[in-house]
Amino acid sequence: MLRVLFLLTAATVWADPRCVGCHQSIVDSYARTGKARSVGKPRAEVQTQRQWFHDFSGRRMGVVWGQGKMTHFMEMKGGVESYEVEWGIGSGREAKNFVVRLGDSLFLSPLAWFANRMIWDMAPGYAIDANPTFYRPVSGECLQCHAGRVAVVEGSQNRFGEMAQAAIGCERCHGDVAAHLASGVAGNVVNPGKLAPARRDAVCESCHLAGEARVANPGKKISDFRAGMAMEDVFTTYVSRRNSEDTVLRVNSHSEEWAESKCQPVWCGTCHDSHGAKVDVRAKCLGCHTSIDAHSIDAHRRKAGADCVGCHMPKQRPWDGSHASRTDHWIRTQKSEQKFLDRGELLRAWREPAKEVATRNLALGYLQSAEKTRSLKRLREGLVALDAAVKQGHTDGDVALAAGLQYVRQKKPELALPWLGRAVELAPLDSLRRLHLAATLANVGRTEEARKEAMEAVRLEPLLEQAYVVLGQIEPARKEYWKDQYRKVVPKRMMP
Ligand code: HEC
Ligand code: HEC
Ligand code: HEC
Ligand code: HEC
Ligand code: HEC
Ligand code: HEC
Ligand code: HEC
Repeated sequence: MLRVLFLLTAATVWADPRCVGCHQSIVDSYARTGKARSVGKPRAEVQTQRQWFHDFSGRRMGVVWGQGKMTHFMEMKGGVESYEVEWGIGSGREAKNFVVRLGDSLFLSPLAWFANRMIWDMAPGYAIDANPTFYRPVSGECLQCHAGRVAVVEGSQNRFGEMAQAAIGCERCHGDVAAHLASGVAGNVVNPGKLAPARRDAVCESCHLAGEARVANPGKKISDFRAGMAMEDVFTTYVSRRNSEDTVLRVNSHSEEWAESKCQPVWCGTCHDSHGAKVDVRAKCLGCHTSIDAHSIDAHRRKAGADCVGCHMPKQRPWDGSHASRTDHWIRTQKSEQKFLDRGELLRAWREPAKEVATRNLALGYLQSAEKTRSLKRLREGLVALDAAVKQGHTDGDVALAAGLQYVRQKKPELALPWLGRAVELAPLDSLRRLHLAATLANVGRTEEARKEAMEAVRLEPLLEQAYVVLGQIEPARKEYWKDQYRKVVPKRMMP
């Protein structure tokens, strides 16, 4: 039964028709990787249906499969909310998230498939949610790492154009292939294996190193990155750093862990074939460690013939939605520093960007991660750096937004307004920036302007839930009216 399922899916995975004529074996082998199925239409999982009671929210959840369609539903007081699933995220090697569509907006389903346990359950982040919904926006960032090619509608939170290519394809590691397709020869397409180490590693890091924060350079988007570029020319990734107070280190991703290992010069491609071919990792280890002395180490004497990886790269816990590495990629001895789970609160650039933007990017990195982690220390570092960045003359849209929001937090709306105004002026299609401006205008009593900005936010992004809330605050007399307006765009939504 399992085998049949596998063959069926193997036959329907994505394979690039443009490359197959000349690189047949690579295309075939790549089709077997998780990447080639990283995003796809939903299909029957091993457990095709399940209904269960979610104690935390007191609701019944369910998954139904039939006639090639997957439906997720949630039963609560007052009725049932159900959606047909549009996309699955994740090949299902470990787990899968699901996406539903309303108009051109994409939202995450609170239900997920866990391949390791072979069961449907609450998606990571929803298990202890008393009010799980179908309305958590799927960010462009999420699909940037998981999908081949997607187009986020400019300025929107979660509106997308047609998914040009769902699964991760050749271009994500080989860059623009137009010249190569016009003339199939070596040298006119990016080959990561031939890039200088930093650019080579950046290809994998662009998805495998989320870090604590990622900050685009002024005028750039993270999605502008292409294989072959230097990452810091587009964005900076910030990771936790050690300092004299924090002697501990928190390494999280495959890239961070591997960077701590002493085995050099090794890169991801030493042990992983990007096209899915099997690599004999033990032979790779022995290729460098030719003289491991089986007698000097007890464990080696007892089991010298065993797989090196089992002891030196042990498996950790299964996927829990944290995107942390599951195979420990930090090869070390007991004498080397131990791995701690504590968080080093200060940040450092994975690779420093150009000097002109270093302080600006660091400021935005601290503020971004402070918001996610609620770290006061990061907030303080961020404010100091932001001040310095502004003094250096940085007033681009991201800086303006950050500065405006900080004044909002400090309850100084008059000081926030010029910054938020500038942030909107520089990105007039950005719905969330408009909404921040609207809320702040309302705060200082400029109701009519506030209403205009909030209406514009709704026009740009009709499913932006907070916009209706803000409109209700701006016009308390019409609070119910705005609630109804929101219900009209999400007719299935049940308000608990
Ligand atoms: C018309 C035939 C043809 C097509 C179609 C083709 N290639 Fe190639 N490709 C070649 C040849 C020939 C080479 C050189 C082979 C060699 O050096 O061994 C090559 C080499 C490459 C290299 C290595 C380049 C280097 O400089 O090291 C990459 C990467 C590559 N191709 C990717 C692709 C991708 C991705 C596609 C599909 C989008 C594709 N190719 C389509 C013929 C083709
Ligand atoms: C476009 C983003 C992206 C890039 C670039 C990328 N990866 Fe991945 N990689 C993923 C995602 C997403 C998965 C999980 C796929 C799944 O199973 O759903 C993955 C899975 C893997 C796996 C697990 C095995 C498998 O076949 O799924 C390995 C190993 C891996 N990547 C190595 C690499 C290496 C090495 C590079 C650089 C040469 C790289 N990746 C570049 C996104 C990326
Ligand atoms: C910075 C890039 C990045 C972002 C952002 C990201 N992911 Fe991932 N995700 C990965 C990579 C790489 C893997 C596979 C390797 C790993 O687990 O580290 C993965 C693994 C997964 C898996 C498990 C797939 C499997 O079977 O192994 C799921 C499900 C998943 N991600 C869902 C999501 C969702 C949903 C979002 C957005 C809300 C998201 N991810 C955001 C890079 C990313
Ligand atoms: C996850 C990143 C990644 C993806 C996706 C990817 N490649 Fe590659 N590719 C590489 C790396 C890395 C190398 C260099 C391998 C080396 O030097 O060890 C490479 C090398 C190549 C080469 C040169 C010959 C060789 O075997 O070294 C060809 C041809 C090629 N890739 C074609 C493709 C095609 C076609 C696809 C899509 C079906 C594809 N690649 C998808 C990372 C990737
Ligand atoms: C490209 C060569 C290379 C490969 C491949 C390689 N290593 Fe290493 N490894 C090194 C070097 C160099 C050192 C540092 C030696 C030193 O510091 O004396 C090292 C150090 C180590 C250490 C000691 C770490 C410490 O903290 O002192 C262990 C354990 C180890 N390697 C295991 C492995 C295993 C297991 C593999 C295969 C999964 C592997 N290595 C693959 C080159 C390599
Ligand atoms: C010294 C060898 C080695 C190097 C170098 C290496 N890996 Fe791995 N990796 C492994 C082994 C072994 C596994 C477990 C494979 C398995 O279970 O099939 C693994 C598993 C993975 C997985 C699957 C999820 C997990 O954690 O089990 C991903 C994703 C991955 N590696 C990414 C990377 C990336 C990205 C790099 C570069 C930063 C890298 N690896 C460097 C040996 C290596
Ligand atoms: C049964 C578990 C086990 C297996 C299998 C194993 N090792 Fe080790 N290895 C150890 C332990 C334990 C140490 C000592 C670590 C310490 O000092 O903390 C060690 C130390 C090492 C070191 C550093 C010390 C030295 O001798 O230079 C290297 C390198 C190493 N192993 C490589 C390998 C390679 C290569 C393989 C596969 C051929 C392998 N090990 C298989 C458990 C194992």
